[in-house]
Amino acid sequence: MDSDRTKKIKAAFTKFPTTRILVIGDIIIDHFIWGSVSRISPEAPVPVVNVTGENLLLGGAANVLNNIYALGGKATLCGLIGQDIMGDHLLDLIEKLGSSTAGIIRTANRPTTKKTRIIAQHQQVVRFDREKTGAPQKENLDTMLTFLEKNISSFQAVIVSDYNKGIISSELMAALKKIIKNHPEIPIIVDPKPKDLERFSGTTMLTPNSHEAELMADLEIRDDRSLAEAAAFIQDKLKVDALLITRGEAGMALFEKGKEPFLIPTVAKEVFDVTGAGDTVIASLALARAAGLSLEEAAIVANQAAGIVVGKLGTATASREEILGTLK
Ligand SMILES: Nc1ncnc2c1ncn2[C@@H]1O[C@H](COP(=O)(O)OP(=O)(O)OP(=O)(O)O)[C@@H](O)[C@H]1O
Ligand SMILES: [Mg+2]
Repeated sequence: MDSDRTKKIKAAFTKFPTTRILVIGDIIIDHFIWGSVSRISPEAPVPVVNVTGENLLLGGAANVLNNIYALGGKATLCGLIGQDIMGDHLLDLIEKLGSSTAGIIRTANRPTTKKTRIIAQHQQVVRFDREKTGAPQKENLDTMLTFLEKNISSFQAVIVSDYNKGIISSELMAALKKIIKNHPEIPIIVDPKPKDLERFSGTTMLTPNSHEAELMADLEIRDDRSLAEAAAFIQDKLKVDALLITRGEAGMALFEKGKEPFLIPTVAKEVFDVTGAGDTVIASLALARAAGLSLEEAAIVANQAAGIVVGKLGTATASREEILGTLK
């Protein structure tokens, strides 16, 4: 990469600590149970796992927050969790990051969404989820909106992290867009699930993966041409300024209104675990953008960050130092 661009990116990185991002979405706690299997149960044809350890990690929108902190940025999370022990753990983990928990609303209407994975000999044995999905109920929605109205002006970007658990309802999105109307300088960057697309119309930017883009455009992406067609369809239908389609091992493609597509190949050399790469992409993209980089430069940063996390095991994060190391 030319050294002017590297210099500019490096300078923007120094602004991360003073950048405030709002992350709104489905808050999840990832619960991992580790162990080994030495026999099949006499009770049923299932393995018996001898548990050797377990841990709790921030997932979903909370993993986006985690990624922002790993990059040296600051962010606040807004969403719903339960009045349960997992909710307590989640608040603990967020406080440990140094992030405010003021936007996290505890409700008796749903438990804290928890995904438990049992892993033995590096293989997932089973996953079980505890959750209650659905749009926020009126009292919870009102509390979230009051928080947003009061605090929106302290953020330089909004990330919408949709994990299909229901927080990102049409009503919430409509209210968010209305609040942002008075702050046109704040971009809304959305990691969308391809459902009720109208929710996302008029936002600044979407970051679907290829499969999500195919579903959104109802078109199979086979080559660069169909990729561009799908992008044009989505941009036109939803009136978004930009679209970043993440393409797994093929890297990513940025589509900006009135510009040629900008294709970025992946930089990953060894791939261990691709889970959570999408969270890293939207976290680094929003931070880089809020720090004053162009969308192309922000996409380059996001691609480098994603290339780093897929080379690590578990839902991993990338740091500024690691990204700078790859830009040399
Ligand atoms: N197999 C891979 N090889 C190289 N790079 C990868 C691979 N998978 C993902 N990446 C990098 O991570 C970025 C995001 O990955 P992907 O397109 O799979 O997003 P996603 O499906 O939203 O991920 P998630 O599982 O977090 O939802 C890609 O644009 C690319 O830079
Ligand atoms: Mg994704």
